[in-house]
Amino acid sequence: MPATISIHGQWSTRLAFILAATGSAVGLGNIWRFPYIAGENGGGAFVLVYLACILLIGLPIMMAEILLGRRGRQSPINTMLTVAREEGLSRGWGLMGWVGVLAGFLILSFYSVIAGWALSYVFKAGSGSFSGLDAEGSSELFGAMLANPEALLAWHTIFMVMTAMVVARGVQSGLERAVTILVPALVVLLIVLVGYSMAQGAFMDGMRFLFYPDFSALSANAVLLAMGQAFFTLSLGMGAIMVYGSYLSSDASVARTSGTVVAADTLVALLAGLAIFPILLAAGLSPAQGPGLIFVTLPLAFAEMPLGLYFGTLFFVLLVFAAWTSAISLIEPAVAFLVENLGATRVFATTVVAMLAWLLGIGALLSLNVWSEYTLFDRGILDLLDFLTANIMLPLGGFLIALFVGWRMTERSVQSELRLKLGWLFTLWYFLLRYVAPIAILVVFLRAVGLV
Ligand code: PHE
Ligand code: NA
Repeated sequence: MPATISIHGQWSTRLAFILAATGSAVGLGNIWRFPYIAGENGGGAFVLVYLACILLIGLPIMMAEILLGRRGRQSPINTMLTVAREEGLSRGWGLMGWVGVLAGFLILSFYSVIAGWALSYVFKAGSGSFSGLDAEGSSELFGAMLANPEALLAWHTIFMVMTAMVVARGVQSGLERAVTILVPALVVLLIVLVGYSMAQGAFMDGMRFLFYPDFSALSANAVLLAMGQAFFTLSLGMGAIMVYGSYLSSDASVARTSGTVVAADTLVALLAGLAIFPILLAAGLSPAQGPGLIFVTLPLAFAEMPLGLYFGTLFFVLLVFAAWTSAISLIEPAVAFLVENLGATRVFATTVVAMLAWLLGIGALLSLNVWSEYTLFDRGILDLLDFLTANIMLPLGGFLIALFVGWRMTERSVQSELRLKLGWLFTLWYFLLRYVAPIAILVVFLRAVGLV
C-alpha cells in the first residue's frame, strides 16, 4: 500500500499546491531565459516550437510526474523505487531519481548566480542608477557587474542562504508561505511593463518578432533549445514537480492542477517577451544580446517611465522572489532524499546540499570574468551547466518518465491515480504520453546531433 501522506508533510490545500508548483515553474526561466533564448534564435518560429513543446510534451509529462510523486509520496529516488516495486519493475528505475537530484543540484548552482544578478539590480534600481541611462550606458552597467567577481560572489551567497533558510523550515511553514502573494504581484507588474512598451516601445515590431514565424531561420539546434526551454520553464524532468506532487493530497485533480500551472507559466513568459522586445527594438538593440538581455533592456524603460524608480525596484524584487520560489524546488528533491535515507534533519540536509551547490556556483560566476578563457565545447562553466541541464538532462528525464508511466506502469494503476472523469481526455493524454512526447524528444535529440 502506498502511504497516503508523506513524512515531510503535505500541502494544506489544493490551492497551496498550485501556488507552490506555479512558484517552482515561474522564475528566471520565464523572465530571464525565455526572452534571451528566443532573441538569439530569431523569435517567431522558435516561440511557436516552444509553445508546441509546452502543450504536446510538457503538459502530458507534468501530469505524469505529479502522478508519480503522489503515488510514491517520497523523494524522487525513493518514489521511483517504491512505484517500481509496486508494479513489479526493476530497481534500476531508481537511477532516474538520482539523475534528477543531480540535475537539480547543477541547475541550482548557476541559477543562484543569475538570481544574484537580479538581487544586485534591486539595489541599482533603488539607488537611482538607471536614471538618464541610454542603451550604451545600460550595457556598460551590466558589463561592470559581470567583471566584478567579489560582488557576484556576495550576491550569489546571499541568494543561496535565502534559499537554504526557506527549505530548512519545511514544507508548510517554509515553502508554502513564500509563494502566495508573489505570483499575482509579478503578473500585475509585467502587465504595467507591457502597457509601457505598448505606449513607448516599438510594439508592433516586438509582436512581429515574437509571433511571426520564419521557419527558414530555424536550425535543428534551435528546436533542441526550444524543447529544453519548455522543460526548464515547467520545472520538468528532474523531480521538482514530482516531489511537490508527493505533498499533494489524494483527492486533488492532477489534470486540472497541471493545466493551471502550465497556463500561468506560459502567460508569464509571453508577457515578459511582450514587455521586453518592443523596448529593445525601439532602443535599437539587438535581440541576440545573450544572457544580459533583460538586464540591459529593462533599465531603459525604468529610466524613462514615470515612477520608474519604484517600478524598477519592485520589478527586480519580484524577480528575486520568483527565482527564490523556483530555487527551493530545485533543492527539495535532494533534501527529501537525505532526510529519508540518512535520517538527517532538514536543517543539516539543506546545509550540505546548498553548500555544495554554492561551491559549484563560484566556478560558474568566475567563468564570467577571471576564468573566461577556460571553455569546453566553446562554453564557459555557467554556459555549460545551463546547456547540459536544460537541453539534455531534463528532456532525458522527461523521456524516462514518459516511458515509465506510459509503457511500464499498468494502465489500471495509472488510471486509478489520475481518475480523469472524461474518458476521451484520458485517451488523449495517454496517447500524447506514450507516443507523441517520447518520439518527439528522441527525434529532436537525433536531429541535434545530425543523425536524422
Ligand atoms: N522552472 C524554473 C524557471 O523557469 C526553473 C526550474 C527548473 C525550477 C527545474 C525547478 C526545476 O525559472
Ligand atoms: Na518557468
